[in-house]
Amino acid sequence: MEYNKKIMEHFHHPKNVGALKNADGIGFVGDPECGDFLKVRIKVKNDHIHDISFQCKGCPAAIASSSIMTQLAKGKHLDEAALITDEVIEQALGGLPEAKRHCSNLGATALYKAIINYIFGGPKS
Ligand code: FES
Repeated sequence: MEYNKKIMEHFHHPKNVGALKNADGIGFVGDPECGDFLKVRIKVKNDHIHDISFQCKGCPAAIASSSIMTQLAKGKHLDEAALITDEVIEQALGGLPEAKRHCSNLGATALYKAIINYIFGGPKS
């Protein structure tokens, strides 16, 4: 499997890893195709993503996608952050191998769910 330099960089040195305390929103997604999962936590201030973290069990593409997703989302207004799609994530990574394109969906979906969770009252777990 050929990964580009940027993917490998994020895989080896992922950003914003861990569990934020007192998160305002949590998004969880599991990929039934491979059993991998991603949990995203956000802290919100003035309708902006003030802080974000992720925990992921997945392939290098999933970890790199999650890492770059947190960088893309941090500081953005919730409306803008909700528009971060798997294509946006893939482009930011400089492309993903064809067989790994679904992995970027985890990042986009978990972020979106965390935003929705916040809007509808915050963490339940
Ligand atoms: S997230 Fe399952 S193969 Fe990448």
